[in-house]
Amino acid sequence: MAPQRVFSGIQPSGELHIGNYLGAVQNWVTLQSQHDCLFCVVDLHAITQPYDPANLPALTTDMAVSLYAAGLDPERCIVFIQSHVAEHTELNWLFSAVAPLGELERQTQFKDKSQRQESVLLGLLAYPVLQAADVLLYKASLVPVGEDQVQHLELMREIARRWNARFGQGYFPEPQPLLTRTKRVLGLDGKAKMSKSLGNTIGLFESPEAIWEKLRPAATDPARVTRKDPGTPEICNIYTLHQGFSPPEVVAEVADKCRTAGWGCIDCKRKLADHMIATLTPMRERAAALKRDPTGVTERLRAGAQRARTLAQRTIVEVRERMGFLHE
Ligand code: TRP
Repeated sequence: MAPQRVFSGIQPSGELHIGNYLGAVQNWVTLQSQHDCLFCVVDLHAITQPYDPANLPALTTDMAVSLYAAGLDPERCIVFIQSHVAEHTELNWLFSAVAPLGELERQTQFKDKSQRQESVLLGLLAYPVLQAADVLLYKASLVPVGEDQVQHLELMREIARRWNARFGQGYFPEPQPLLTRTKRVLGLDGKAKMSKSLGNTIGLFESPEAIWEKLRPAATDPARVTRKDPGTPEICNIYTLHQGFSPPEVVAEVADKCRTAGWGCIDCKRKLADHMIATLTPMRERAAALKRDPTGVTERLRAGAQRARTLAQRTIVEVRERMGFLHE
């Protein structure tokens, strides 16, 4: 059987933090050696919410640099910027011939995000249509995402089914989510999800000193008040981070020392810092090298877009024909 194609996207939010890394990118790095993969910085999606055009280029570049530094290898997968491949926008429009408005209005993310806005933009409503175009343009069948994207994936399959029913049975696959193993990473405050806007993150390229300074006061199992109280690893965010950064035998040891109060939280955090720093140091070094060579980054991205475009154009030619557009 041919390897299944994988597609995923990430918003251009600047440099990656350990939450994005454990929640998505760590898995992408594994997938690139098992499947035919495309990974995309979705700058076209970024304009569906208020944004500053003056900042978007740097946010986009920083995300691309982050992806390479985290281990995505242009020899093994295609990394590109969504807006560099105009076919995404074209398929988005073509899908408006089959995308169901009612379902779009019922999307949880649309309801949440539109509530926070004075004037609701068409782009916010159409967000999942563009996402369907991203994946189906490459006929990808596997989409590594978090739990929060499952509804968008359902709608994506609905769009594929409706398009196929009307224009070509079996043409598009019905993509399935590949849920990330790591459970939700909370911020260092242990309250909300880790996110840059809340300032509760550790950046992927922070120095060992900065990492320790943030980990030392980070929230742990709230029921573990004194050093002698036994803890519950399953409800401790530090344990979640161990699962992301430490080898299995260390994770097992940590769980045991926590339950038996063999270690205090600070001992546990020191262990975590060691493994986190060991993982992140080579990434920080790669990121620094890429930042010294912006032309190299531009060239990599151009090559990535070219490879993606070749695949995208094949689909678009067939889609146009099946939808009845007269060729030039
Ligand atoms: N909506 C996704 C997110 O917020 C990003 C995204 C855009 C995406 N296009 C995609 C994810 C295609 C997977 C496939 O995380």
